Amino acid sequence: MTTPQSSVPLHPAPPIPVRDVRTSAADLAHYGRDWTHGFAPAPSAIALPESVEEVQALVRWANETRTALVPSGGRTGLSGGAVAARGEVVVSMERMRAILSFDAADRSLTVQAGVTTHAAQESAAAHGLYYPVDFASRGSAQIGGNIATNAGGIKVLRYGMTRQWVSGLKVVSGAGDLLEFNRGLVKNATGYDFRHLFIGSEGTLGIVVEATLQLTDPPPAQNVMVLGLPALDSVMAVFDLLRRRLRLSAFEFFTDRALHHVLAAGAQRPFESSTPYYVLAEFDENEDAALAAFEELSEAGWLADGVMSTTPAQAQSLWRLRESITESLSAYKPYKNDIAVRVSDVPAFLRQADALFAARYPGFDVIWFGHIGDGNLHISVLRPHSMGDAEFIATCGQATAQLGSLLAQMGGSVSAEHGIGLLKKPYLDRTRAPAEIQLMRQIKRVFDPNGIMNPGKIFD
Ligand code: MLT
Ligand code: ZN
Repeated sequence: MTTPQSSVPLHPAPPIPVRDVRTSAADLAHYGRDWTHGFAPAPSAIALPESVEEVQALVRWANETRTALVPSGGRTGLSGGAVAARGEVVVSMERMRAILSFDAADRSLTVQAGVTTHAAQESAAAHGLYYPVDFASRGSAQIGGNIATNAGGIKVLRYGMTRQWVSGLKVVSGAGDLLEFNRGLVKNATGYDFRHLFIGSEGTLGIVVEATLQLTDPPPAQNVMVLGLPALDSVMAVFDLLRRRLRLSAFEFFTDRALHHVLAAGAQRPFESSTPYYVLAEFDENEDAALAAFEELSEAGWLADGVMSTTPAQAQSLWRLRESITESLSAYKPYKNDIAVRVSDVPAFLRQADALFAARYPGFDVIWFGHIGDGNLHISVLRPHSMGDAEFIATCGQATAQLGSLLAQMGGSVSAEHGIGLLKKPYLDRTRAPAEIQLMRQIKRVFDPNGIMNPGKIFD
């Protein structure tokens, strides 16, 4: 008689109930991570379901086998929300990329979760309408991921976040139930709106399989101006004046340090002179008002230089100065902060955060940019040559904790749009109360009683 090996289970685990499952080293490395630096991918398998039924079967299997699942879209996230570092099964939604229906009366588009943001925008345009959520990663980011992080981007000033454009949601909860929220209704006063709980939940409650997106009228022709500012103090005064004189759809900010990297990657300088700060404003075309505003800004002494687009191609190349910052920095594997304060607190935050980095981290190359008109700043820190990776990440963590304390005093947030994921988890309690985090844990248990949905993300 042979003795059974202790590692062989008496009842082998049932196989993953999805037709396309991949386990090659290349697939595990590719699908096991997002754009966040510093986390090594280590999934056990990648499942690529093709239908709602397959997603539901997969979630039920995960409950039976107590296997952790990591939902995964275009993997453009910047907080590690789609990283599988602990043997989880990644659920890639990329095979579920059908545009299911368009309704002209409802002005809505119903899509599967794996449709890219760009494909949703294109489909809206083909129907003479507009899907306004937009950001540089539009070509890869998927609607399911946008919903999971309540994606923001460059048009929030006029159109708001993803949350405002989702009128219906179909999800498979962590318990394996197929749930349909709000069904595209404009008004619905029937108790708790679970749709909004799933938006921004970073895959910790269930998997989004379909979404109904509201569309709107396309905007009129847009113009873009890039202005060079000699002083940080005038940034919000420029914003205030421009939003009074023009109908803005975006107001973005970047420093000369950020521009330096974009120029090194091949972009053209917007104008001859270089200034420490730049803003980019996009607005409904109105050349006379724009020129008058430009003059007012110059007379106030807030401008060093500026340029305005006269063609869509010029507008696009000015946008490129702002939109390619992330890509131009990616080789440096920057440590990213993505903070929010009330717009009224932006000047005070900028002053204090700048002073914090200058006093405590003088060796850091800190690249400031972001959606300043929304009170959202991206602070990317590049590793000094003298510092190893581990020391760099630990020191940045210390700086984030200090920024978190500053944000707590101001009533701000440690994440405006990138989410908490793994990267910001240690700092969540700086700007969310312990009682709130405890409620989040309890809500997770309601939708995901066995804790199989993206465990370890947002909170432990
Ligand atoms: C952006 O606004 O460019 C993105 O949020 C990406 C980033 O912070 O790098
Ligand atoms: Zn951003």
